[in-house]
This record gives sequence, structure tokens and C-alpha cells, in this order.
Amino acid sequence: MGLKVALLVLALALCACTTSQAHLHCGFYRKTCPAAENIVRQTVKRALKKDSGLVADFIRMHFHDCFVRGCDASILLDSTAKNKAEKDSPINNPSLEGFDVIDAAKASLEKECKGVVSCADIIAFAARDSVALSGGLHYEVPAGRRDGRISRALEADDTLPPPTFNLKQLTKRFAEKGFTQEEMVTLSGAHTLGVAHCTSISDRLYNFSSKLSTDPSLDPAYAATLKNQCPKGSTDPNLTVNLDPPSPLRFDSSYYKDVLVHRGLFESDQALLSSPVTAKQVVANAVDEALFKKKFADAMVKLGQLHVLTDKNGEIRHNCRVVN
Ligand code: HEM
Ligand SMILES: *[C@@H]1O[C@H](CO)[C@@H](O)[C@H](O)[C@H]1NC(C)=O
Ligand SMILES: *[C@@H]1O[C@H](CO)[C@@H](O)[C@H](O)[C@H]1NC(C)=O
Repeated sequence: MGLKVALLVLALALCACTTSQAHLHCGFYRKTCPAAENIVRQTVKRALKKDSGLVADFIRMHFHDCFVRGCDASILLDSTAKNKAEKDSPINNPSLEGFDVIDAAKASLEKECKGVVSCADIIAFAARDSVALSGGLHYEVPAGRRDGRISRALEADDTLPPPTFNLKQLTKRFAEKGFTQEEMVTLSGAHTLGVAHCTSISDRLYNFSSKLSTDPSLDPAYAATLKNQCPKGSTDPNLTVNLDPPSPLRFDSSYYKDVLVHRGLFESDQALLSSPVTAKQVVANAVDEALFKKKFADAMVKLGQLHVLTDKNGEIRHNCRVVN
């Protein structure tokens, strides 16, 4: 193999940029703001030192941004008198945090290179850094997204999958966004990090159906533990449980091991075991952590390309919370 070909192959392996249909590319800020990715990483690192749980928020934030209207930082816009924004949908508020950290990164970036780095790219970088800092694979993020001007809470309600979804519903929802069923199984592995509010599982524990109070697909011992952590009828909105109790802050295969022993926290997690094809993928990810990490990194790059705004579309917001 000639040197040129070898270098090309290496470049392709390091960066999925050539597969980008959206005209994003790696190192987008190399000339215009060379410190951009480093500034985001340092800001994320500093935030995690204070509150390690935020590592999950940035990954979830990227998902919730990209699934709704594409990766356009619509998740960051504040509500106005006339408009309830995505971040105030019950699916995001109060569970999604870390907006102040994105603001801090943006403020540093505006100082360093005014009006250059989009809020949508900041989220994509922060999600990547969170994956890498918690033990996942470091992947290159094709950048060049621009920020949108619209954010509607109802679209978040209608688009983001609820934890009660079964396999068919999950597969359909992800297919609508261009993902295969296997990519859906892989992206669900993000639930190796973070917490859920008791309100997200109280029906599964106490009000599953007209005949059963508790979901029978949940390991009974685990159900008992969860009931202790989330008492029936509790109205404390701050009560949370770990999504992956064995290693809540490690990006590892542990989530899939949970699912295999019927300790997936949501019905949507446990649903991955409900067909032979997806169950096989769960096993593969459980036993081969490197495989899972690689598949996850690839799926995140793909997630980051959803309906992006580039070039003349969109804008570079000065403040991530308001349109220019
Ligand atoms: C497959 C369908 C999915 C469903 C039904 C779902 C649902 C949920 C729910 C209900 C929560 C808990 C919210 C709360 O009560 O605080 C949660 C948390 C989380 N989700 Fe998902 N999710 C899905 C896919 C994803 C994907 C694709 C990602 C990212 C790639 C993701 C990342 C996360 C993370 C990291 C958390 C923890 C957040 C924290 O600790 O604050 N989820 N998810
Ligand atoms: C139990 O579930 C049903 C059906 O989803 C719902 O209408 C009802 O409000 C729930 N009850 C409680 C106490 O949450
Ligand atoms: C929940 O947490 C918020 C913010 O930390 C706090 O202001 C509030 O008092 C808490 N609510 C309860 C019921 O503990």
C-alpha cells in the first residue's frame, strides 16, 4: 500500500467525516478557533469535578437536541412569554441539567473567538468529552453545525421516546430518525450512566396494569430495592435512582449485563431482551465492551448529523439561550 493510500485509510479510520452527508467535517474550527474543542473539554472537566453526575446530562442533551428538529441547539433556547421551549417539556424539565456549563463554555468561546463556534457544536463536543472522560471511546466530532431559531416543547413531547415504549415502538421511533434497530440497541447503552427520577418508574413499580401492580419482567429482588428507594406515593420530585447501579459513572458494558438479568430500569431497557435478534445484540455488547464502545461512538457520530443546519442555514448564536 502506498503512503498516500495508507494515510487516507488512517484518516478515514480516525474520522467519519467523509460519510457526512451534512457537510460537517472534523477539525472545522482548526483555522477559525483552534482552541475551541479544548475549551469545551476543559469546561466540561471542571464541571464534572464539581458534579460528576453531569457526565450523563451532556450525552442525554445531545440526544434530546438531535432527535428534536435536528442538532441545532434547540434544546438550549429558553422559553419566552409566547413560547414554551423544548427544555421546559416535562421530558426535560427538571431532569436535564448542565445548561449553565454550556453557557460557561460559550462565554469562554466568545472571548476567544467571537461569533464563531455554534451552540450545537458545543453540545456535540461536550457529549463526546463526557463519553471519553467516563471510559468510553474518544471519537472525532464532525463539526460545522449552525444554530436554529425555533424550539417547541410539544415537539419534544411528541418525538422523544417515553420509558414505557416496547421494542416495536422503539424500533419505529428510531427508524423514523434513520437508525437501524441495532443502532437503537447500541444508543440505549447510554443508560450505563446517570440517574432517573422515581417519577419515571413509579408506574412500573406500583401501577403497571389493571391486573399487576409491578412489571413482571423486572427482577423481583431489584423491584424490592427500587421500591425502597422510591416509596409508593412519594411526591418528592428530587428522588432518583441509578440507571446502572453497579457503575453509575462508568461508561462500560454493565448496562447490558443488567438487562440480561432483568434489571433494566425502564420497560424500554428491558424490551431489548424481548426479541431474539435484539437479545443477541444485548449479549454481544455485554460480553464485548470494546465492540460496544466502538458501535456507540459510531452511533453518536451518526446521531450528531441529524438534520443539521449548515452554511447559510441557521446562525451562530451569541448566547445559547436566545436567538440572535
Ligand atoms: C431508547 C429510548 C430511550 C428512552 C425511552 C429513554 C428514556 C430515559 C428516561 C425516562 C430517563 C430518566 C429521566 C429522569 O427521570 O431523570 C433517561 C435518562 C438518561 N438517558 Fe435515556 N432514553 C432513551 C435513549 C437514550 C439515548 C439514545 C441516550 C443517549 C445517547 C440516552 C441517554 C440518557 C442518559 C445519559 C440518561 C441519564 C441522565 C441523568 O443522569 O441525568 N437515552 N432516559
Ligand atoms: C395508573 O395508571 C393509569 C393508566 O396509565 C393512570 O391513568 C393512573 O393515573 C395511574 N394511577 C396513579 C395513582 O398514578
Ligand atoms: C428539590 O431540590 C430543589 C433544588 O435542589 C430544592 O430547591 C427543593 O426544595 C427540593 N424539593 C424537595 C421536596 O426536597
